[in-house]
Amino acid sequence: MRLSTLFFTLISCLFGLVKSFEFQIPIRQPEVTVEDELYSATQQWLQSEAQAMSCAKCISLLQMVKNLAYMSEGMFMATGVRICRRLSQVDTDVCIGVVKEQAPVFRKVIKTMTVSGREGHLLCASVLNSCPYPDIEPHNITFPKAKPDPLPEVYNKKASGRTFSVLHLSDWHVDPEYEPGTEAFCSKPLCCRPAYTDFTNITKPASIWGEYSCDTPITLLESMLQFIPQVAPELSFGILTGDIPPHEVWATLPVLKTQMIHDNSYSMLHRHFDSSDLVNAMLYPSVGNHEAAPTNMFPVKTSQIPIEEERKYLRLHWLYHSLAQSWRGWLTHDTALTIEEDSASYATRPRAGLKLISLNTNFCYNMNWWLYEHPMEKDPNGVLEWLITQLQDSEDRGERVWITGHIAPGDDSCFHDYSNYFHQIVERYSPHVITGQFYGHTHKDEYHVFYRDNNQTAENAISMAYVGPSITPFDYVNPGFRLYHVDAETFEVVDSITFIADLDQADTWITGPNWHVEYTARDAYNSSFAPLHDTTSPLTPAWWHNVSVSMEEDPDVMFDKYWKYRAKSSPYVSECDEECRASVICGIRAGKSEQRCDYDPDVLPGGINNKKRRPIEEPTCGLHLQGATTRYAKQYEQYQEQQQQQER
Ligand SMILES: *[C@@H]1O[C@H](CO)[C@@H](O)[C@H](O)[C@H]1NC(C)=O
Ligand SMILES: *[C@@H]1O[C@H](CO)[C@@H](O)[C@H](O)[C@H]1NC(C)=O
Ligand SMILES: *[C@@H]1O[C@H](CO)[C@@H](O)[C@H](O)[C@H]1NC(C)=O
Ligand SMILES: *[C@@H]1O[C@H](CO)[C@@H](O)[C@H](O)[C@H]1NC(C)=O
Ligand SMILES: *[C@@H]1O[C@H](CO)[C@@H](O)[C@H](O)[C@H]1NC(C)=O
Repeated sequence: MRLSTLFFTLISCLFGLVKSFEFQIPIRQPEVTVEDELYSATQQWLQSEAQAMSCAKCISLLQMVKNLAYMSEGMFMATGVRICRRLSQVDTDVCIGVVKEQAPVFRKVIKTMTVSGREGHLLCASVLNSCPYPDIEPHNITFPKAKPDPLPEVYNKKASGRTFSVLHLSDWHVDPEYEPGTEAFCSKPLCCRPAYTDFTNITKPASIWGEYSCDTPITLLESMLQFIPQVAPELSFGILTGDIPPHEVWATLPVLKTQMIHDNSYSMLHRHFDSSDLVNAMLYPSVGNHEAAPTNMFPVKTSQIPIEEERKYLRLHWLYHSLAQSWRGWLTHDTALTIEEDSASYATRPRAGLKLISLNTNFCYNMNWWLYEHPMEKDPNGVLEWLITQLQDSEDRGERVWITGHIAPGDDSCFHDYSNYFHQIVERYSPHVITGQFYGHTHKDEYHVFYRDNNQTAENAISMAYVGPSITPFDYVNPGFRLYHVDAETFEVVDSITFIADLDQADTWITGPNWHVEYTARDAYNSSFAPLHDTTSPLTPAWWHNVSVSMEEDPDVMFDKYWKYRAKSSPYVSECDEECRASVICGIRAGKSEQRCDYDPDVLPGGINNKKRRPIEEPTCGLHLQGATTRYAKQYEQYQEQQQQQER
């Protein structure tokens, strides 16, 4: 059933509701008629099968939320919390917390939105899967100079065969409250904490090193950081593609709490990276959606932020200021200043001839409510314009560039429009200037290929984005990190080596996690479809395109390998049938999100063929709200059966 694949709803993202087909309606309070209407509209929307119906219902639901937004904030939030508790399987504290943190911004923003127009349709399409995705508003990016033809001599350099190593860390998601022995299957979205544990009846006690339903314990981080020098004694530098705080999205405030988690994490990172007998390298971080408090809320310069003193934190000055402090030592003084001014995007030079541009990509994120404010901006905070200036400067100098960030532009949570404009920039400066892109966010090990002229062939592949594995095992992936071997002359990636620890074996670890190489790209993906002839040629975008061809041509070997590594060899990886496979391969070839295929074709009345998003897995939704016992019901049952068998 199609609806069963749709998981989170507007309300689940906003108010904490989760779709449920067994609505257990508690006794109504007769006076709350707005609430009743909203509740019944939600039900109607949930029950509408055809997309056109579901879209109309979604828009009318948004309209009701908008009407409600004109009530006082207190009423708006109280209604939200009541609906959340009435409809959902979400814990009461989580309902209250998420509404308290997310609803004030959403209430402000929805009042400006054209709900029946583009913004409403965009929200219903990109977050709620209920409308056809609105067409891109065409916009030609203008560049200071045309692409040089022929290219300057400096860009004709051949790979030298000499390499250096770069470390890629992503999605740290530390949970300072993690404690071994606590409940791993609790009723909150995130477990392994004393506060969420019934110590008289523990289903699965958390291990010392982590659990698949929990964020990262400090022990796991320490062991990883200690392990890194053993496999990378001479690291040139490291990147960290965002998301330091845990998935505690219902309790990120006061901001000091979230800031402390950043501060403590960066002290730990400085201790390891700045010491000559430990990691001993510079680290270049990027800002993830979880860095903000409340989660995802990155305002743009024109956002109408509430003026009250106690809401000033919504501007995120505190975040940019503290990141500038935390990143000191790795960046120059001038760069630190631009972090505060430019919402944490910056450019630096890790090596002569290579510029690293770290972008705040939260301005394309579909769960950043500020972006829906009418009129929507094409280039919030001027990040794209700034990027062009940086790239042009590098081209003028004959320099290479790496782009790093949290959310990949080809991810389904990045707006099609923004992603399209970003792609124009990549096309202008690739493959000569931009020689690598590195992201995180999905917790999976993935990649995207960018093409010239929308022509998805090896000849036209011009750029490659690596989506690095997460350190957090949340949810149901193994913890991992990555090393790249990079050509010292052209700064192209020559090999990508992924390390993991098999968390399902945590109980058998005596001296610590079994960190080991999971695979190297050269060994794993060398095939007759994407042959490698020597050991030092770069892994070009064309080669990676051919790897995706090998997944189509030889799925049982090549696709299955990718699918396994994508979840970092987690024993809990889901099945991927033929349809899923086609969609995943399509996603690889989507340097821009509009090219993705996780949509169901759906014919609207009048014969217009539209596409509706069909998630291959649960969308992550940026806000995980359902309790672990519900969310991981299958794994929970599996575990209980194992226990019972052992007892027998
Ligand atoms: C963008 O450029 C193309 C080709 O030069 C042109 O056909 C199109 O009209 C332009 N679009 C806009 C919105 O300016
Ligand atoms: C222990 O917890 C499980 C799962 O939450 C529950 O099914 C069981 O009834 C509880 N047992 C006791 C003795 O409370
Ligand atoms: C796409 O690229 C291929 C190979 O370079 C070329 O043969 C083909 O004509 C191109 N297709 C289009 C539509 O430009
Ligand atoms: C790639 O695989 C082929 C056999 O399929 C082998 O001959 C070749 O040496 C391999 N290349 C590398 C670089 O390992
Ligand atoms: C990709 O595959 C095409 C078609 O087999 C081949 O011509 C080309 O050399 C391959 N390129 C790389 C880099 O593997």
